[in-house]
Amino acid sequence: MTQRKRIVAGNWKMNGNLSLIETFSSTIQPKEFPGVEIVVFPPFPLLSNVAAKGLKTGSQTVSEHDAGAYTGEVEAKLVAELGGEYCLVGHSERRTLFKESNEVLVAKFAKAQEAGLTPVLCVGETESEREAGLTEEVISVQLNAVINQLGVASLENSVVAYEPVWAIGTGKTATPEQAQQVHKFIRELIAQSDASLAAKLPLLYGGSVNDENCDLLFAQPDIDGGLIGGASLKPEAFKRICESAVGNV
Ligand code: PGA
Repeated sequence: MTQRKRIVAGNWKMNGNLSLIETFSSTIQPKEFPGVEIVVFPPFPLLSNVAAKGLKTGSQTVSEHDAGAYTGEVEAKLVAELGGEYCLVGHSERRTLFKESNEVLVAKFAKAQEAGLTPVLCVGETESEREAGLTEEVISVQLNAVINQLGVASLENSVVAYEPVWAIGTGKTATPEQAQQVHKFIRELIAQSDASLAAKLPLLYGGSVNDENCDLLFAQPDIDGGLIGGASLKPEAFKRICESAVGNV
C-alpha cells in the first residue's frame, strides 16, 4: 500500500469548450473519489472556468519567461492567478511539434514552481528509441536535465509522468509490466540522489489509458495514477478511470 498521492489528470490538449466543462463537472464530483487528486488540463482560456467548478486545474505548458513582450505566451503566475495549481512540462507534443528542448523545459519547470504551480514533468521514449534499446537512456537525459540544473530537491513539489511517445493517442498502450518497469527505473534513478524523495514522488502513466486498461495499470506498485488524453474528453470513461484509482489507493 502506497502512501503516495494518487492523481488522475485529464489532458484535454486543444480540445474542449464551455459545454464540455458543464458535462464534465456534472459527471465528476471530486468528493466521490477519496484519496484521489483529479486535475483537468484544459486550454488556457478555460482555466478559471474549470476552477470555478471546484475542479483542480492546470495549464498544458507555461512560458519560460517572466511577463513581458512575448506575444502569444502565458506566464506561470497568471495560471496561478486564474486558479491553476499544476502545469504540464515537456509533454511529447511540446517537445516534438513545438521543438521544446530539455534546456527550455528546465526553465519552464522552474517558472512553474516559482509561481507556486506543481510541474508535471513528462518523459518518454519514441518507438524507434525503444526498439533501439534506448528507453532508459532517453528518460535519464530528460530527468537529469532537471536534476542537474535545478537540483534533485526541485522534484519535491513535482510529479513525473511517464508517457511513451508510441502509446500517445495511438491506442497502443504499454503493457502494465512495461509501464511498471519504466516507473521503477525512474524511481530508482531519482533514489540515487534522494531516496526518501523518490519514495514519495507521484509517478503517473500516460498513453492510451482508458476505462478498460486502467485497472491493471493502476495496480502496478510504482504507478500512482494516470495522465489521460483522449479518454478525458469522455466524462463517463474518465469517471470510471477515477473510480479505478480509488480502488488502488
Ligand atoms: P492519450 O494521451 O491518452 O490520448 O494517449 C495522453 C497524453 O498525451 O497525455
